[in-house]
Amino acid sequence: MTDILKVRDLHTHFVSRNAVNEIRVARALNGVDLTLPRGRILGIVGETGAGKSLTVQTILGLLKPPARRVGGEIELDGRRLDGLPEKELNRLRGSSIGLVVQSPVTSLDPRAKVGEQIVRLQRAHRQVSRGEAWKRGVIIVTHDLGVVAQYCADVAVMYSGTVVEQGPVAEVFVEPRHPYTQALIRAADLAAAAGGRRALPPSTPPDLYDLPEGCLFAPRCPKAEAVCSTPPPVVERGSGPVLVRCHFA
Ligand SMILES: Nc1ncnc2c1ncn2[C@@H]1O[C@H](COP(=O)(O)OP(=O)(O)O)[C@@H](O)[C@H]1O
Ligand code: SF4
Ligand SMILES: [Mg+2]
Repeated sequence: MTDILKVRDLHTHFVSRNAVNEIRVARALNGVDLTLPRGRILGIVGETGAGKSLTVQTILGLLKPPARRVGGEIELDGRRLDGLPEKELNRLRGSSIGLVVQSPVTSLDPRAKVGEQIVRLQRAHRQVSRGEAWKRGVIIVTHDLGVVAQYCADVAVMYSGTVVEQGPVAEVFVEPRHPYTQALIRAADLAAAAGGRRALPPSTPPDLYDLPEGCLFAPRCPKAEAVCSTPPPVVERGSGPVLVRCHFA
């Protein structure tokens, strides 16, 4: 077993009623695919509202109404988590996945803080199973690409409730294949060159109540063509857990 966590086609919705009592559905997660290899650190990046926190909450079974997981599979250490009773979930939560959630607004030096948290996680784990190797996986949620470059072996790039690209940082950052990842890295490089942090640029996220039929990035994609009005395939590339969600990947 090389992957500690496998997430396939995860869907999470917010269901509510509007002023005239019509049912409204916000499609916040739209088919998240994620793989966390054992003993590695995975960074989840994406602009505000992309669904990073919700992905983690859905995986850990921490959703509160009106949020509801409406589809998908979650496999932790070879066991299906979705559908497990709450008691069982509580036992598994935190025992296999370490979580570092970064809040750059509230900390002066987010990178130091991430490093500190990882060390703390490793210590905590060693106390639980002394002498054992680092067997878990760690997920870092951030919108600082510098943090990902410094601490993560793998990166998952989220856009509008999907992972548009996942793979080893060395591949994804050097040769991004998804147009959104390409735009993101270009913008971060420009910001860094201008003396700023390698953070994500502000933007207008898509309306979760009215998402396009096909590729969710199509309205903003410089490479969009007619075929992009149909859902893009998830293309695997290379030997690692590398995925690109695009018609032209
Ligand atoms: N009660 C709600 N009703 C509808 N949409 C919601 C609700 N709460 C959160 N959302 C939406 O869910 C999306 C995912 O949010 P989140 O996972 O927090 O994003 P991130 O962590 O990437 O910033 C956001 O676009 C947010 O607007
Ligand atoms: S599927 Fe089309 S619109 Fe979507 S990212 Fe690829 S090229 Fe752009
Ligand atoms: Mg968040």
